Amino acid sequence: MEKVVERILISEEEINQKVKELGEKLSHDYKDKDVLFICVLKGAIMFMSDLSKAMSIPIEMDFMAVSSYGASTKSSGIVKIIKDLDASIEDRHVVVIEDIIDTGLTLSYLIKILQNRKPASLKICTLLDKPARRTVDIKPDYSGFVIEDHFVVGYGLDYDEKYRNIPYIFIPKSDIIK
Ligand code: PRP
Ligand code: MN
Ligand code: MG
Repeated sequence: MEKVVERILISEEEINQKVKELGEKLSHDYKDKDVLFICVLKGAIMFMSDLSKAMSIPIEMDFMAVSSYGASTKSSGIVKIIKDLDASIEDRHVVVIEDIIDTGLTLSYLIKILQNRKPASLKICTLLDKPARRTVDIKPDYSGFVIEDHFVVGYGLDYDEKYRNIPYIFIPKSDIIK
């Protein structure tokens, strides 16, 4: 990894600690409710997995995959549903689990779709929040780390589908980014 890592931004230990804190907070907030976690594939896979294990109450899980139509249309905020949820969320208490909110376009579109399905409540939990890049007004209800405008990968976040499996979050060397 020395060839690839410019700097580790958030270590495995820091992630573990934060995930534990978020798990405690969510377990407390949802202790009297049946909660459904929705993982936004693929980036949120590691966070979803670790966060759900940090919960002290049973939760349900579902998965959704979305993709933007392409770089030029991403600014329009149109995302395509690649894989929809398996079950209805009507009257459910839902928490959308994301790895990062960058421009906010993915989540703002997703939230609109999910809100139309009449959940009892709908909250956003993101590991990373990069407010400097925001183009739409969206704020997480639960957030792990607010980060500066760095390109980051690891712990679910990819560059060209790589590095999702790396257990920490790092800034890659500029020469690996084409
Ligand atoms: C990334 C990331 C978020 C989204 C954030 O997903 O995982 O879902 O972009 O960007 P935004 O706030 O500007 O919309 P990506 O579309 O790369 O798909 P992936 O999760 O499969 O990597
Ligand atoms: Mn994603
Ligand atoms: Mg990606």
